[in-house]
Amino acid sequence: MARRMNVPSFVAQKGTRRLVCLTAYDVLTAGIVDEAGVDLILVGDSLGNVVLGHETTLPVTLDQMISHSAAVMRAKPKALVIADMPFLTFQVNPEDTLRNAGRIIQEAGVDGVKIEGARGDHVRMLVQAGIPVMGHIGLTPQSVLELGGFRVQGRTPEAADALLEQAKALEAAGCFSLVLESVPAPVAEHVTKAIGIPTVGIGAGRACDGQILVITDLLGMSSATPKFVRRYAALRDVIHDAVRRYAEDVRSDCFPGPEETYPE
Ligand code: KIV
Repeated sequence: MARRMNVPSFVAQKGTRRLVCLTAYDVLTAGIVDEAGVDLILVGDSLGNVVLGHETTLPVTLDQMISHSAAVMRAKPKALVIADMPFLTFQVNPEDTLRNAGRIIQEAGVDGVKIEGARGDHVRMLVQAGIPVMGHIGLTPQSVLELGGFRVQGRTPEAADALLEQAKALEAAGCFSLVLESVPAPVAEHVTKAIGIPTVGIGAGRACDGQILVITDLLGMSSATPKFVRRYAALRDVIHDAVRRYAEDVRSDCFPGPEETYPE
């Protein structure tokens, strides 16, 4: 029986093979994704957009993240499971960040947390307490108001240099891995080569140590997807067709049939 992925074994893959990462928000999806052999499941705060129907990730609460992360853990995944810290749970002061991350670890049982932005002091506090932290730079959706939209980051030489500095600072603070979101491929490649921890790209080209996508985008369930998404299925159409045929069968008295009925 394969052993569970842990943080040191995840980090050790850098330079040996590509890391496969995907989001999940519930026990059923997490179980399927895990059986398919991903290395890391992220309970992303994209939960807010794809499951809860918000325009941004800003309304997602700590309790919602804990509840969905705990559901993912009930699938008993072999993959490493990381939960996003939602908006305002790690921006106030490092003590609050530790208390909130501690709740995610204790109540959901995940393997670590992810924090957006260059917050070295917060990362240091968590790592000192034994909580593994994944960083996330480039396009950080919790800063959408400040960034003025979901735009590619690091396009100017100055912005690319700033990203590199952030990456080095987060590695020095103790992050075990770094998500690079929506940055030009050469910038992501430069960052990946400059640091010793695995980079996981989303819209950051193929030089990153691993890739991550939002599961509903990959499955073709979302109505609109960014340029960097590749759809591996068209589940929206599959579900639509199945429900339409079910409705037709109910309305025409074809469901249930004798094979779906208890005779007595
Ligand atoms: O919330 C999320 O799903 C994420 C990934 C897209 C990296 O942060």
